[in-house]
Amino acid sequence: MTETAPIRYELIKEEKHTGARLGILHTPHGSFETPMYMPVGTLATVKGLSPEELKAMGAGVILSNTYHLWLRPGEDIVEEAGGLHQFMNWDQGVLTDSGGFQVFSLSDTRKITEEGVKFKSHIDGSDLFLTPEKSIQIQNALGADIIMSFDECPDFNHTYDYVKQSIHRTTRWAERGLKAHQKANQQALFGIVQGAGYKDLRLQHARDMVSLDFPGYSIGGLSVGESKEEMNDVMDYLLPELPANKPRYLMGVGSPDSLIDGAIRGVDMFDCVLATRIARNGTCMTSSGRLVVKNATYARDFRPIDEHCQCYTCQNYTRAYVRHLFKADEIFGLRLASIHNVYFLLELMRQVRQAIREDNLLEFREAFFEAYGYNKP
Ligand code: GUN
Ligand code: ZN
Repeated sequence: MTETAPIRYELIKEEKHTGARLGILHTPHGSFETPMYMPVGTLATVKGLSPEELKAMGAGVILSNTYHLWLRPGEDIVEEAGGLHQFMNWDQGVLTDSGGFQVFSLSDTRKITEEGVKFKSHIDGSDLFLTPEKSIQIQNALGADIIMSFDECPDFNHTYDYVKQSIHRTTRWAERGLKAHQKANQQALFGIVQGAGYKDLRLQHARDMVSLDFPGYSIGGLSVGESKEEMNDVMDYLLPELPANKPRYLMGVGSPDSLIDGAIRGVDMFDCVLATRIARNGTCMTSSGRLVVKNATYARDFRPIDEHCQCYTCQNYTRAYVRHLFKADEIFGLRLASIHNVYFLLELMRQVRQAIREDNLLEFREAFFEAYGYNKP
């Protein structure tokens, strides 16, 4: 890392029996402990939660999206506001995704060329063109602490030959992004490793990305329809290829089991819309598994959503009340469920970090999986 590097990864401790590591990531907007779950604030807001609430829960970093903010309100407006932190009143860490993935997941018509990706806006159907340079330029304007290089995210159904040419193009896009990056002393640009389920391509791409000397590495193209075993396999051989003195971020992965299984293999950062998305349809994560709070069984259940949870929702409200709010379409219900779910994942990561300190992460995994119901046939 150069002297002007905006972020610094401090390795505190490696767990004795796994690849897990405890660390601190220092950013221009404060530091956070790793492994860490990053709540998703796609449109410069974590849906339903205020920055003060997020801070009180211990969220030291959130994720936002280049693609969405480019379309609405436009990165020029965010820049004029003083950047994403100022615009949304969030003084902790922010990471932006490059738009590569969103172009693929939100648009059904797209054309990939060496230059970039042509596609249609998911808002008004207009023609758009995103390139590695454009993605970095938007991210420079948004001003996140950590930004992503522009990538293609081929899933596990693509042929070997397709994925092979794709990773090489993603490498060339990463090089173009590095050249276009105007704020390398303020924003850390991460390289994204792809390669679907092909071991030699994953390893090749990891080496190519590492040779470009990014301040951190993202693992992309996972949780895109493959099995948990396939995802864990990829992490098993991929993580050892990534430098130990830099942070590793597993993109778009945030189910409780995958957070634990990723941390065990040495992942430091995670993000996922799962917690907030399922909250909005009335599903809560609890220490004994998923609870669909809308269900009739909770009409007279005056216990908190999770009796072991210390969140604002569980300290003050009952299942019966939250259910009532959902049935009546009251927006406070969405907020209470979202607060609980985000807190639940932040708390899970606190427990993972504690287990790393105590060298009992595998025992913790076993107990958590059992209680959550993952071990049931
Ligand atoms: N979010 C989840 N997966 C991916 C990925 O592979 N690439 C990018 N850019 N973002 C993601
Ligand atoms: Zn709670």
